[in-house]
Amino acid sequence: MDLVNDTILITGGSSGIGLEMAKQLLALGNTVIVTGRNEEKMNQAKAKYPQLYTYSVEVTDIESIQQLYVQIIRDFPALNILINNAGMMNAIKFQTAKAEGIADEVTTNLAGPILMTQVFLPHLLKQKEAAVLNVTSGIAYFAFDKAPIYSASKLGLHSYTQSLRKQLKKTSVKVFELAPPRTSKPMFSGTEEDNASVDRIPEMPIAEVVKKMIEGIKKNRETIVPGMSKLLKLVGKIQL
Ligand SMILES: NC(=O)c1ccc[n+]([C@@H]2O[C@H](COP(=O)([O-])OP(=O)(O)OC[C@H]3O[C@@H](n4cnc5c(N)ncnc54)[C@H](OP(=O)(O)O)[C@@H]3O)[C@@H](O)[C@H]2O)c1
Repeated sequence: MDLVNDTILITGGSSGIGLEMAKQLLALGNTVIVTGRNEEKMNQAKAKYPQLYTYSVEVTDIESIQQLYVQIIRDFPALNILINNAGMMNAIKFQTAKAEGIADEVTTNLAGPILMTQVFLPHLLKQKEAAVLNVTSGIAYFAFDKAPIYSASKLGLHSYTQSLRKQLKKTSVKVFELAPPRTSKPMFSGTEEDNASVDRIPEMPIAEVVKKMIEGIKKNRETIVPGMSKLLKLVGKIQL
């Protein structure tokens, strides 16, 4: 895919990696739509990049996704790329964690992208050239015990992405995975001691991560594993 004149929907695009994706994909001449939940953050994103379109969706709620689908297909019939980027991370100690928070993390990181894809897939399949990209993480491949539910949900998303790719092999829809390493906008926030040990891991600038994503898609590289994520993937294999 050349990533020019595409119509791209990015979940969780009102901040962080998603917003950087929007910035770089707009610069290439694409139509970019981002989603989020926090209206203020979406307004700020729109003020920064006026060409951006913003919509609300709660990716854990099938009705909210279906409403979004109706709006997007009405407003952007040329939509051909879905980027499942929305995600969350909790620092969790199993002895004290609440079941509710755990379920929320699994639903957001795993069920969310699966439901989004399920709802948008019939439309993508009608396009001449289309793609789904799921954002996993370097710690999908490596059991990160300080955020264990995050790590497990991203491994689940990695596995789902592979199955989706196999099932869509003979269609116009390509399936990509981006597994970012720890970035310049890190997600982890735990105890002082855990933060100190995580802070030793190098950070990759988010602009660099997104550059790698764009290069990867253009080169048709199905699994894009930038920077330290390569090492985590290798260590994860040994760990297994
Ligand atoms: N940052 C890193 O170092 C890093 C490393 C590896 C992988 N990743 C992955 O990269 C992706 C983006 O991370 P980020 O650091 O850029 O995150 P971020 O700045 O915290 O942004 C997360 C986005 O997801 C949205 N979101 C979260 N839960 C949602 C839900 N239930 N329904 C709808 N939208 C929801 C948020 O919207 P609202 O704010 O409006 O709720 C926000 O726009 C995530 O999948 C993350 O796991 C990040």
